[in-house]
Amino acid sequence: MPSLQDKIILVTGATSGIGEVTARELARQGAHVIILARNADKARKTQHAIVAATGNERVDVVLADLSALAQVHRVAAELHDKYPRLDVLVNNAGLMFGAERELSADGYEMTLATNHLGPFLLTSLLLDLLQKSPAARIVNVASMAYRFSKPTLDDIQSERSYSPVWEYGTTKLWNIMFTQELAERLRTHGITNVTTNCLHPGAVATGYGKQTGGIVGALLSLGRPFMISPEKGAQTSLFLATDAKVANVSGGFFSKKKLEPVKSDFNTPANNRRLWEMSEQLTSTNFLD
Ligand SMILES: NC(=O)c1ccc[n+]([C@@H]2O[C@H](COP(=O)([O-])OP(=O)(O)OC[C@H]3O[C@@H](n4cnc5c(N)ncnc54)[C@H](OP(=O)(O)O)[C@@H]3O)[C@@H](O)[C@H]2O)c1
Repeated sequence: MPSLQDKIILVTGATSGIGEVTARELARQGAHVIILARNADKARKTQHAIVAATGNERVDVVLADLSALAQVHRVAAELHDKYPRLDVLVNNAGLMFGAERELSADGYEMTLATNHLGPFLLTSLLLDLLQKSPAARIVNVASMAYRFSKPTLDDIQSERSYSPVWEYGTTKLWNIMFTQELAERLRTHGITNVTTNCLHPGAVATGYGKQTGGIVGALLSLGRPFMISPEKGAQTSLFLATDAKVANVSGGFFSKKKLEPVKSDFNTPANNRRLWEMSEQLTSTNFLD
């Protein structure tokens, strides 16, 4: 296994589940790992656990709630102050909310804010740091749950119709469409040293669904004993973050380390562009225009 000694890698949502294993295994391979978390206590515990498990002391913490755009701006500024470049960004944080539609600090539907808008803005604000790497990668943790979605860009805030399962699935489709459009825009801007891919990790026994509650939360709890371990669930994230085989691949959706076709009629170049433009508007950012 090649050493990651010269890599600086940011993993979001690394206080639990797939992200925690991803951060730990990257640290084990020698990377300088930065954990982005919203909970300071959990982040410190995870940091200490990773250092103890791997002997790698280059494990840092930065704090931000990705659903709040001001916090994303603050943490991006902190990362610019602290690090000369970023080699890998793993946009892993994500979750399913409960039966009641909730709003973020910016007044956006919470699943959209957490799973798509926060990572979109973070990626936009960190692109210059990634471009300072000789070969940077952006890995977006999506899900096969994109197939359980009723995507529409005419009601992106789900004001007319909200269900936690459809909302989660839709934001995971947005993760895939974001990845494809980002790869396209990197190409058209002649940025050849940054790639991006996304993935389905499998059905993984993690904290996923624990805060969903209701029938969906209960069903996920019942299913947990039959799911794969977070160690297995992190394998495709680790593959896309580090493996030489995908050094020149960009815009792909992967499952079990293999390219997977995206089966959604909604996944068209025109809709990818429209989602991008709406995401720019909602986050008040200009990103690779
Ligand atoms: N588990 C599965 O079967 C499965 C399948 C397909 C895709 N995925 C995807 O895999 C990714 C990781 O999920 P997981 O299964 O490992 O779930 P998890 O154990 O619940 O971990 C989610 C992580 O995201 C963090 N997070 C949530 N909201 C955040 C916010 N607003 N700001 C910053 N961090 C936030 C959580 O922090 P706290 O510790 O503070 O809660 C936690 O560290 C997600 O994107 C999920 O959609 C999971």
